Amino acid sequence: MKPLVAVLVIAVAAMAVADDVPFTDKDLESEESIWKLYERWGHVHGLTSRDLAEKGSRFEAFKVNAKHVNEFNKKEGMTYELGLNKFADMTLEEFLAKYAGAKVDAVILQASVRELEEEVIGDVPTTWDWRQHGAVTAVKDQGQCGSCWAFSAVGAVESANAIATGNLLKLSEQQVLDCSGDGDCNGGWPDMVLKGYAIEQGIALDSSGNPPYYPPYVAAKMSCRTVAGKPVVKMDGTTRVASGETALKQSVSLQPVSVLIEADTNFQLYKSGVYSGPCGTKVNHAVLAVGYGVTSNNINYWIVKNSWNTTWGESGYIRMKRDVGGNKGLCGIAMYGIYPTKIKQNPFSSVAASVADAAFY
Ligand SMILES: *[C@@H]1O[C@H](CO)[C@@H](O)[C@H](O)[C@H]1NC(C)=O
Repeated sequence: MKPLVAVLVIAVAAMAVADDVPFTDKDLESEESIWKLYERWGHVHGLTSRDLAEKGSRFEAFKVNAKHVNEFNKKEGMTYELGLNKFADMTLEEFLAKYAGAKVDAVILQASVRELEEEVIGDVPTTWDWRQHGAVTAVKDQGQCGSCWAFSAVGAVESANAIATGNLLKLSEQQVLDCSGDGDCNGGWPDMVLKGYAIEQGIALDSSGNPPYYPPYVAAKMSCRTVAGKPVVKMDGTTRVASGETALKQSVSLQPVSVLIEADTNFQLYKSGVYSGPCGTKVNHAVLAVGYGVTSNNINYWIVKNSWNTTWGESGYIRMKRDVGGNKGLCGIAMYGIYPTKIKQNPFSSVAASVADAAFY
């Protein structure tokens, strides 16, 4: 009896630390102890295949990050925690180059803006979470490709379609990356996808199966493989959210919104809680705001879906502080919100619906 219990306890403990590597001051005492911590971290994140040269070159970044996490988590009065997640051996520059990638074009942002008026704001629920209303697909992983713009845009389309049709379909970022012309693995424009491609061409289903699915995501831009006749989800228009958190709250209560933020070191190493920066408003990362809430300590937050796998943050999500004053929002979250609108039926809607029934329910 005893040995069995012991085995079970070990298994549960291993699961609990799978996404994070707990450590203490002792682990940071010397180069040797930090190297040991680094090896333990690599093991947890499945990075044992890295050769010694690569490990050596990344050790500096890991050391800096581990010390930063340790110091930060000791601070009093913080509303969030950092952790040694899978990005912990990258400098911020390297990290942003590989995992962010939103671009902003002021001219494009100004064009065809239909701003929401404060006057039309009616009663908005105090808290809202679209995940509880079947309107958000599972967290995805953009891999080492600056394609956040595609994930943010496709996420917004998936949600708009789910709310309009009652069908939560998983749609293809790979298609948008290959075919839209709105970006590549070095970054792109989510608003252009929503204003152009999602309306004119529509977005195909994503799965690792055969057509009518678009081929699976590979974290690299490939040649466009769209074929006529494939079932797609089409949008009919876009609404640009007026800047400011009041307008964003109004919009998020209607449907998930594609937003741009500035991702910094603490965002990279975020583990849990209500993120409060520090961060500027030079936006570099596109994500999806899927709701908003209030903690038991009365801290207001946005619920933000990221595309860095479920191993980052709170199962792939981050809660970001809301109502921070000014009209930009924390990290610029309230500056560039946009969402697609849907009125008409999808082309091939019966095909899409039956495919969906088979594959997603
Ligand atoms: C998250 O990462 C793990 C490990 O690399 C991988 O097996 C899994 O498929 C990823 N999840 C998603 C949603 O891509």
